[in-house]
Parts: sequence; structure tokens; C-alpha cells
Amino acid sequence: MNKVLINFAHPAKSRSKVNKALRKAVEGLDGITINDLYATYPDFMIDIEREKQLCEDHDIIIFQHPLYWYSTPAIIKEWLDLVLEHGWAYGSDGKALTGKILFQSISAGADASTYRTDGYNGFSLRELTSPLQATAKLCGLVWLPPFAVTGVHRGLEVEKTQSHTEDYRRIIIALRDSTINIEHAKQLELLNTDINQLIKGN
Ligand SMILES: Cc1cc2nc3c(=O)[nH]c(=O)nc-3n(C[C@H](O)[C@H](O)[C@H](O)COP(=O)(O)O)c2cc1C
Repeated sequence: MNKVLINFAHPAKSRSKVNKALRKAVEGLDGITINDLYATYPDFMIDIEREKQLCEDHDIIIFQHPLYWYSTPAIIKEWLDLVLEHGWAYGSDGKALTGKILFQSISAGADASTYRTDGYNGFSLRELTSPLQATAKLCGLVWLPPFAVTGVHRGLEVEKTQSHTEDYRRIIIALRDSTINIEHAKQLELLNTDINQLIKGN
């Protein structure tokens, strides 16, 4: 069984709808650790050794966050700047993360149709997550496209939120249990584009 680390980053958790619901759907599952970055480090004083140990203890690392200015909330950038040390994450002796899986779980205010080359935002969500893709490449991680919930500003109906939380739970369990077709996942626009094709045995 793989161990899954969810680095959860939401600076206004009490007002969150989507990320709170996604988190609730996987919290307490066997083999899943939720690491709430803003709750643990309200002053941004990240405990580098603790974070490195958490990464070493897990096989799959997820950054779950709302999309802020086409990117992550600030604490994830701080985490990357501090934790991914030379000689640990990269460099000739930096092999601590090699072979682990990495992806982002994103919620976005704007509709899916705006996240296209010819759409209002001009870039796909997959393209917007390329800085982490490049980071993963440098550190020898296996990068996957993001799991994404879009159109949050319009307000999601209860059924839609439920279907996203179910998808999130299914994908995380499948990653934990190695029942995901990783090569297929790498090609997808989003990790939740076609879940039934993605999970083996469906
Ligand atoms: C500072 C800030 C920046 C944001 N930037 C974007 C953005 O670039 N694109 C977008 O679609 N939504 C953006 N949003 C909307 C959030 O992504 C949205 O409110 C969030 O995903 C909702 O998730 P939640 O219910 O967990 O809070 C932004 C919101 C804030 C507060």
C-alpha cells in the first residue's frame, strides 16, 4: 500500500467550500496523511526537517489548494523554496524524492471553458501547473496533471460538489492501492478528466 501525503494549503479555511469538502472526503482514510500548512505554520516558519521527513515517509505527494493568481497560495511557494534543498531533493546526491508521485489538486473560481488557449484565461490548468512539473522533473518525481474543480464562483450545486469529492476519494484510494494507470494519467489534461479509464478494474 502506498502512503499519500496531502499538503493542504488554504489561508481562509473557515470560508472554504470546495477544499473543505474534498479534504473531508479523504480525511481519516488508511494511509492518507493531511498536512495542513497554514494551520501548522501560521507565521510561515516552516520546519524543514519535519517536512522532509514527511516526504520521505510517503510515496505520493499532493499539494491541495485554491488557485490564487493562476498559481498557489504563498505558503506552498515558501515550502518549495525552503524544503527542496540541494543534496536532498536535487543535485548529484539529492535523491530523496526520486520515483515518488507529485500532483496538485486545485479549485478555481473561473469556469473550465476559460482555461483554454483560446479561452478567457489563455492557458489550460495543466499548463499553469508547469512550474511544479519542471520542479518534479528536476527532483526525479513522477509528475501527474492536476485534479481540478472549476467554476467555483458560480457556486457548485450540492450534487456537483458530491461528485467531485467522490472522484477525489476514488483517485486517492486508487493511487494508494496502485490501481491507477499511471502512463494513462500522465497524458490526461486533468487527472479527473476520465476517471473510469484511469482506474484499473473499472
Ligand atoms: C487571492 C485570490 C486569488 C484568486 N485567483 C484566482 C485565479 O487566478 N483563477 C481563478 O479561477 N480563481 C481565483 N480565485 C478564486 C479561488 O480560486 C476560489 O475562490 C477558490 O478556489 C474556492 O475554493 P474554496 O471553496 O476551497 O475556498 C482567487 C481567489 C483569491 C482569494
